[in-house]
Amino acid sequence: MAEIKKVREKWGSKLGFILAAAGSAIGLGNIWKFPYIAGENGGAAFIFIYLICIVIIGLPVLIAEVLLGRTTQRNPVGAFKKLSDSKFWIGVGSLGVIAGFLILSYYIVIAGWSLGYIFEAFNGSFFEFNQSNTSAAHFNDLIQNVTWNVGFTIAFLLITMIFVYSGVQKGIERGSKILMPILLLLLVISAVKGISLPGSEKGISFLLEPNWSLVTPSSILVALGHAFFTLSLGMGAMLTYGSYLGKENNIFSASTQIVFLDTIIALLAGLAIFTSVFATQQDPSAGPGLIFHTLPVVFTKMPGGYIFSILFFFLLTIAALTSAISLLEVVVSYFVDEKGWRRHSAVIVFGGVTFLIAIPSALSFNVLSDFHIFGLNFFDLADYLTSNIMLPLGGMLISIFVAWIWGFDKALVELKQGAENVFSNYPFVISAWKIFVKYFAPVLIFLVLLNSLGVL
Ligand code: TRP
Repeated sequence: MAEIKKVREKWGSKLGFILAAAGSAIGLGNIWKFPYIAGENGGAAFIFIYLICIVIIGLPVLIAEVLLGRTTQRNPVGAFKKLSDSKFWIGVGSLGVIAGFLILSYYIVIAGWSLGYIFEAFNGSFFEFNQSNTSAAHFNDLIQNVTWNVGFTIAFLLITMIFVYSGVQKGIERGSKILMPILLLLLVISAVKGISLPGSEKGISFLLEPNWSLVTPSSILVALGHAFFTLSLGMGAMLTYGSYLGKENNIFSASTQIVFLDTIIALLAGLAIFTSVFATQQDPSAGPGLIFHTLPVVFTKMPGGYIFSILFFFLLTIAALTSAISLLEVVVSYFVDEKGWRRHSAVIVFGGVTFLIAIPSALSFNVLSDFHIFGLNFFDLADYLTSNIMLPLGGMLISIFVAWIWGFDKALVELKQGAENVFSNYPFVISAWKIFVKYFAPVLIFLVLLNSLGVL
């Protein structure tokens, strides 16, 4: 029985919270995934649908999650426990913690490749493999090399652990305040560089001129699913970050700023990548391989490509780092709050456990490539289970909980604290939030889920 009352950690400032939460949101989802899914689903047309999903589902659910955290000042399991006696809802919190673990286990593998590619860029390897087929072959050689793949996964995990180990204010907040501005700066430099290349207009029109013929019903569901992933919703990461927030902070304005930052970064990444890809006459529809196969070739064909290749993989690694930190923090906060563990022990033990679960994902590209469960290797299974099932399910249940179980009357009393001006000056914003959380979010997410399960 850990009944020792410890003072719970808090963010030092609202800006610190916004940068940390934006750091969680902005990750591989923005820079690696968003550009290629936009490319596959009609460019501008897809982006338009995605933006609608962000506004009508993403933002309302983000507000709901942060509110649950701030109200209860607990991790996802503790938060549900505090507001409901039902085992079911406590189970929903636990599902979140487990999803966090699973996402982390494959996320750090891709992040490890990105870290490894900083060194590839330094060594100038891209200039030896300056055609897309040799570049892809080089990438495949690397990920099939167990030492390289597992080595960089561990290195990345250790860096993540250092930040979480140092605590909410001294580790996560301080790290985000340094890393996020660097990330933004590097991305703006890359986008300006991309736009300045001769022939970049084709990339810009690809992003701005809608091609509705590529939009299918499933693109709408891809857009909605990605809105969840990119805002780190559905498993309690934002809830956990909200739990370190003081009641005097305005959740509406903070959440809007987080969504704005996340969206701007995704669009800038799309701009930086597609202008350079088109300007160097490469294939924009390489899918998941766009970053690791196509971009290295792009760098060899642009002036200053050596420097830009280093900057790019550095910024990709930073983006992944602040996201991985938030995933590990969910697990750590659970053991600190619920089990009375010390933060340091929780980080060491669960960093170790994450490593054990990450090994099968990392080995999915070499030793275990023939090992399949439900037709998927470990890596794809962890990705599929979390992104397509656990996150939408979690997001739907969180909206249902706030709207129908906890209830708006109680939620609004909490939400009002720190946001009095929104309540008195913009009452329609509050009504819109209610309608979105109560009806739109549960119904639309349910459709995504059916689609993920192949029913729709
Ligand atoms: N949002 C991050 C990205 O875009 C990934 C991420 C971090 C995440 N924490 C999460 C996704 C929690 C879902 C849930 O890369």
